Amino acid sequence: MNKINTFIIGAGAREHALAWKCRQSPFCGKLHINPGNPAIDTIARSIIYCNADEIREIGENLDLFIIGPEDEIVAGKTYEAFDAGFKVFAPATTCAELESNKSLAKDIMTKVGIPTADYQVSTDRRTTGIIAKEFFRKHQGVVLKASGLAAGKGVFVCRSLTEVTEAIDMLYSDRLAEAARKVVIEEVVEGRECSFFTFLGRGQPHHLGFAVDFKRLKDGDQGPNTGGMGSYCPVPWLPADAEQQVIEQILTPLQVTSVIRGYVGCLYIGLMWTDSGPKVLEFNVRLGDPETQALVVGDKDDWLPIMANRAGDTTDYPVTTKEKKPTVAVVLSSPGYPYAQDNDSVRLPRSLFVNDDPDCQVFGASLRKDNDCNYLLTGSGRVLTVVASGQSHAEARQRVYCKVEEIIPYWRQAHFRTDIGEKVL
Ligand code: AMP
Ligand code: GLY
Repeated sequence: MNKINTFIIGAGAREHALAWKCRQSPFCGKLHINPGNPAIDTIARSIIYCNADEIREIGENLDLFIIGPEDEIVAGKTYEAFDAGFKVFAPATTCAELESNKSLAKDIMTKVGIPTADYQVSTDRRTTGIIAKEFFRKHQGVVLKASGLAAGKGVFVCRSLTEVTEAIDMLYSDRLAEAARKVVIEEVVEGRECSFFTFLGRGQPHHLGFAVDFKRLKDGDQGPNTGGMGSYCPVPWLPADAEQQVIEQILTPLQVTSVIRGYVGCLYIGLMWTDSGPKVLEFNVRLGDPETQALVVGDKDDWLPIMANRAGDTTDYPVTTKEKKPTVAVVLSSPGYPYAQDNDSVRLPRSLFVNDDPDCQVFGASLRKDNDCNYLLTGSGRVLTVVASGQSHAEARQRVYCKVEEIIPYWRQAHFRTDIGEKVL
C-alpha cells in the first residue's frame, strides 16, 4: 500500500489534532512535526529546522507538507516547502492575502457579489473616526477591523460611541499600528455565527462542513474575545440547504477571482447566518483552532489521502465516505488567559494524550517536558482541547465534560467554559 510520509508545521492543539488524524489513517507513513510540542511527541516526531535545505535533508521521501498557522503561510513557508520539492497542503502567499489583507478580501467580495457587511476602508486615524461615527449613527453600531494579521486581536464590535473611541485608540496603538495601516469599517451584522471549512486544490473541493466556535472567555458569551474556548460540529440549527447556499453564494463566485487561482489547502469561511442567509465576516486560509479539534474526531473520513490528493498526489487511494458524528470540544486554559502570562505550572500525566478511543481525545498546546517523562508541564494560554463525539450533541457534551472532570484533579486552576454545545438548536 502506498504510504504517505507527512510533515506538519505548527505547535498548537490544532496541529496535534491534525497529526492524530493523519496517524488514524491506514495510509500514514512517517509523521514529522515542526516544532510540535511534548503532547504531539506521543504520535509524531518533533523536528527542529530553520531552512529549506534542512527540510530537504530529513525529507528525501516526504510526500506531503501541511502548514497549520496563518503566520507561517503568510510568511512564505509554502514557497519554501514547494521549492524544496514537496507537495504542500497550504496556499501560496498571494492566495493568503484573503486572510492577511481584509480590505482586499472585502473588495473582492463586493466585486463578485458575495454577501458581506457594508464597509469602507480608511488609511488614517482621522478618517477612521469620521467614517466610524457616520456608520454608528446610521446602524446603531459599527465594527472596526485592522486589515492586516493581528492574531485575532484586531476586530472591535462597537455598540457605543465610547467603544468606538476605545477601539480607535487600540487600533492606532503601537501593538496594532502595523496591522491597522488600513482599517476596515463595517456595519454590524446580526445573526448566528458559524464557519464553513473546505479543502481546495487538485480535483473537486472536499467540504468538511460547518462548525461553531466560542470566542468569548466566559459562559453565556461574556468576557473578552479569545482565540476560541470551544467548538461543536456539525451545526443542527442551520437550514437543510446551508451548504448549497454557501457553495452558490460564496464559493462559486469566489472561484472566478484570481486570488483563489491555484489555491491549495483549507479555506475557512467565517459567517454570520442572518434571516436572509449567509454573510461573510472573514476568510481564513487555514483550519480553525479549536474547530479542527472537533472536526477531526467527529468526521470519520480519512483526511490524509484527501489532503494529499488536493496537494497534487495523483494516487487513487481506496477511500470510502464515512459518517459525521455530533462532537463537542472544550478548551482548558491557564487562569490568567487572555490577559496575563501564567508562570505557575502543574504536572499533567502524559497518559492523557495516549488513548486509542476514536471518539474521545485530549489535544495539547502550551506544554513543556517535565524531568519525569511520565508527566508534562502546563504553560500559559490555551493548554488543552478535550474532545468527544456521541450519537447526539447532548451525549458528546456529557462525554466531553466527564473527561474534563478527570483532568481537573491534576489542574484545579484550569479555566474552561461549562456551556459549550449546550444550545445547538
Ligand atoms: P473576524 O476576525 O472578522 O471574524 O471578527 C472576529 C469576530 O468579530 C467575529 O467572529 C464576530 O463575532 C465579530 N464580527 C466581525 N465582523 C462583524 C460584523 N460585521 N458584524 C457583527 N460581528 C462581527
Ligand atoms: N477559531 C478561530 C480561528 O481559528 O481563527
